[in-house]
Amino acid sequence: MTTQEYITREEKYGAHNYHPLPVVLDRGEGIFVWDVEGKRYFDFLSAYSAVNQGHCHPKIVSALTTQAKKLCLTSRAFHNSSLGEYEEYITRYFGYDKVLPMNTGVEGDETAIKLCRKWAYLKKGIPDGKAKIIVCENNFHGRTITIVSISTDPDARKDYGPYTPGFITIPYNDIPALEKEMQDPNVAGFLMEPIQGEAGVFVPDEGYLKKVSELCKKYNVLFIADEVQTGIARTGKLLACDHENVRPDILILGKALSGGVFPVSAVLADDDIMLTIKPGQHGSTFGGNPVAARVAMAALEVVKEENLAENAEKLGKIFRQELKKVNSDMIKQVRGKGLLNAVVIKPKNGKTAQDVCLKMMENGLLAKPTHGHIIRFAPPLVINEDQLREALELIIKSIKYFD
Ligand SMILES: Cc1ncc(COP(=O)(O)O)c(C=O)c1O
Repeated sequence: MTTQEYITREEKYGAHNYHPLPVVLDRGEGIFVWDVEGKRYFDFLSAYSAVNQGHCHPKIVSALTTQAKKLCLTSRAFHNSSLGEYEEYITRYFGYDKVLPMNTGVEGDETAIKLCRKWAYLKKGIPDGKAKIIVCENNFHGRTITIVSISTDPDARKDYGPYTPGFITIPYNDIPALEKEMQDPNVAGFLMEPIQGEAGVFVPDEGYLKKVSELCKKYNVLFIADEVQTGIARTGKLLACDHENVRPDILILGKALSGGVFPVSAVLADDDIMLTIKPGQHGSTFGGNPVAARVAMAALEVVKEENLAENAEKLGKIFRQELKKVNSDMIKQVRGKGLLNAVVIKPKNGKTAQDVCLKMMENGLLAKPTHGHIIRFAPPLVINEDQLREALELIIKSIKYFD
């Protein structure tokens, strides 16, 4: 089959809820993927930061296949011999009393919202049905009805009403706006991304996270960090919150928690919060299954064994430094942290970020525009300096092509 035949079949039988680049991938290893015609590409999207450990990492795949041959799923109606070990491992790894395992990132966010509301009624004493959670403009937390209810992106939200109430939206990176809303005693939580990924890699001002953490303590409001995209070494620390040494009350992880081989997400919190949810009050058929437990432990071990956070920190600096040196009318801004970076593209002669991405694809590197004019660059964190410099050449050559 040709590339076009694969694409035509997807378009004919699949819902049109994505608009992929015209490349059909067939195989991946480390930082590279190959298409059905055998052409190799640098993967600079990493499945939206799910593949931080690189494609088909042997240790993670081995954990997956070994466990899959033994026991895949029991549901939580019974105990299984992998779950407790994983729960002990991940809670020690991130320093929380308890974990609640789920599958996708958005389920992690939904779980955090439910936990926050339970805590609001059982611990903070907010009157029934009155709890509010503060969220930020331009957030991205996923696609469920509640989560699109708090989105400010018309594409994500329009025609999905009626929307879930109980949320207050404020601008991102705006401490006075946050403090003003927190004075409402019915505010129970502040749900935020420590760097807004999907919005186009918006890094808040230095000190923002620290101030958020202080205000949450002052007003007895839960600090809920969605680190689904920023967590697990992507930004040059294990968590983006670690850049300011702050500890969220509720931490949401997903994506790279499995190295991209399986949907695994997790919500971490201390007992005071986590134990407000009792048996039967929340759950998931697949959450905490033995395969997910083994995969997540392997994925987290790889992050430490291969020093992925340190690598992201070091190579991220080189990446931004080199791109900032480039003299091109099309580069409006380069920003990011660790290996979560973005280039804001200024269209030239009708050529946009999409054209740059198509040119990079032709040159052997995959990335995708977000919001039309921003290109996110997020390679697997196992990339080395030589490979990064080679990739940079392809990126620069592709942008320069339009000058
Ligand atoms: C910050 C953040 N939260 C949640 C999600 C949703 O994750 P999932 O697509 O696994 O539901 C994403 C996905 O991009 C994300 O970036």
